Amino acid sequence: MQIYYLPDQRTVEADNVSTLLNASLEAGIPHTHVCGGNARCSTCRVMILEGQEYCAPRTSAEQELATQLQFEPGVRLACQTVIAQNGKIVLRRLSLDAEDMALFFDQATGKITTRMLGQEKSIAILFADIRGFTAFAEALPPYDVIYVLNRYFQRMAQVINRHAGTINVYMGDGLMALFGVENPERAVERAVRAGVEMLTVVEDLNPSLEMLYQRRLEIGIGIHYGGTVIGTIGDPKSPKMTAIGDAVNLASRIEAANKTLGTKLLISEEAYQETQTQVVVGDRFNVQLPGKSGEYCLYEVQDVIPSPAYDATLALKLTVPVPAHPPSSRRWRTSLWNLIQKIF
Ligand code: FES
Repeated sequence: MQIYYLPDQRTVEADNVSTLLNASLEAGIPHTHVCGGNARCSTCRVMILEGQEYCAPRTSAEQELATQLQFEPGVRLACQTVIAQNGKIVLRRLSLDAEDMALFFDQATGKITTRMLGQEKSIAILFADIRGFTAFAEALPPYDVIYVLNRYFQRMAQVINRHAGTINVYMGDGLMALFGVENPERAVERAVRAGVEMLTVVEDLNPSLEMLYQRRLEIGIGIHYGGTVIGTIGDPKSPKMTAIGDAVNLASRIEAANKTLGTKLLISEEAYQETQTQVVVGDRFNVQLPGKSGEYCLYEVQDVIPSPAYDATLALKLTVPVPAHPPSSRRWRTSLWNLIQKIF
């Protein structure tokens, strides 16, 4: 089997490979395959210029994507295109310009960097927004608005960090935080506990805001647990991690639903299923969400059930690097080591 690659102008002998993508990768051709060869992206696409008859017909997964993206008949997903017969194939790779290279390939190793490509992960997504902030901001000098926002965001960041989450995006007076990107352990529980604590912290802030500005802050929080693609975007010199996917949109809609439902903290059915033994819920709502079809069951979270094990585990993980062995003969360190052993 011979495959001639354009624009590489390389001929590859491919006798024992199953797909066009495997042939490229075995020959060291930097063939982009963002989703890892699972028919979930289209970055491996090629135009078959000659020898279509040596390729097996599209798989159902490839056909689905081809229909969605309106591929011409000669455009194939290399990862899905099985070489069916011996012959000569001429193809052109379609994702390969210098900017693609900068995005997808590590200059030092010449290998694809998964960091830049994205990875599918189920995570907990928390959106929070200040209610009526436009009116609040209009009544204050701009410097005071910045001051209030900075105090608010600082306190929210402390809470989110304490529960091992990350604020990923600030949007005006809103934020999106992610839990479970690095460590999936108890990700939804961490998000919900953070959400409840955020409400408490806002209440703690309010007396000083009332004293200074005769105004209070109210926030709404929405949490969902679902599949996303985590990747980095932006200039490769200063990339920024983000989460993309329907789950992110849904979390944002859930947060917005607080306004119409008169609630402060709503979680999705998926988030509830992960945390039902740890949360105290109030009302349940079956609602339609803007831009979404069907009905969604949302749960109003009123509180979380205290968990000393959760608190201790998290606190230690965040503050004490766990050594491989008791680090020294000093008594306090050995005591700490014994405590860690008990908890883990
Ligand atoms: S690598 Fe994503 S579809 Fe082929």
